[in-house]
Amino acid sequence: MKLFTNINNWINHRSFIGDNENIGFIPTMGALHKGHISLIEKSIADNHRTIVSIFVNPTQFNNTQDLKNYPSTLDIDINLLKKLGVHYVLLPTQNDIYKDKFNYKISEHDLSLIMEGKERPGHFDGVLTIVMKLLNIVNPKKAYFGEKDYQQFKLIEHMVDSFFMNIEIISCPTIREKDGLAFSSRNVLLTKKQRMIAPQFPKELRSKKKIKDIKIELLKSGFEVDYIEKYDKRIFGAVQLGKVRLIDNEKE
Ligand code: PAJ
Repeated sequence: MKLFTNINNWINHRSFIGDNENIGFIPTMGALHKGHISLIEKSIADNHRTIVSIFVNPTQFNNTQDLKNYPSTLDIDINLLKKLGVHYVLLPTQNDIYKDKFNYKISEHDLSLIMEGKERPGHFDGVLTIVMKLLNIVNPKKAYFGEKDYQQFKLIEHMVDSFFMNIEIISCPTIREKDGLAFSSRNVLLTKKQRMIAPQFPKELRSKKKIKDIKIELLKSGFEVDYIEKYDKRIFGAVQLGKVRLIDNEKE
């Protein structure tokens, strides 16, 4: 497994990989868990080579405390990626990838303004901009995204189509703990008590109850509710337990 912290070194290496070698790409912010692993294993099965990026992207955090608290387990992540059989890891630096100081942005003006976008102004500008940069740097045949962040996946799929980028965007199902809680890097920030309550959230999303009744149940269980909304034949939600924010969605 080769590690690249310098973008130009990677681009130079990339230029020697022939067109007949399919590259699969999984962008991440690290603190890897079984959700990330499922995307990586799919890419390894589908492509000749797999590259994973780890970059905690500051421009998608609208809350500085959330950015500060974001878990980092870089050494463990790198060992895991080696064991999985990943070929390349890209660890760009902030100065390198934002050499323009975020003066150039990708903005979307429809889907990015509801749900997560409404709660976290500017979040999707940050996500779309970093993903556009990473896709241009990596130039993969396929890129893999989780349905756990379905709104993000849809926006990236639309962006790639809108800018005529020749990359296949593949969605992968949400991987969950036995009790139904979706794996998330932020789960480690939950206290024991909050971790016990957390599975109520996906359970309510699956319950087929009316939105207002779901909200009542979640409030009773001790969640703060940011939103529960239906879109694209799915039900989406974001809740908070103390300082930890959880998002999830289920097919209706
Ligand atoms: P991150 O939260 O690290 O997630 C990386 C990828 O893993 C995303 O596509 C996400 O949807 C997927 N993922 C996370 N939890 C999952 C789960 N339980 N089951 C299946 N897939 C899961 O999403 C981001 O990073 C960033 O926004 C990024 C796209 C890297 C841009 O900075």
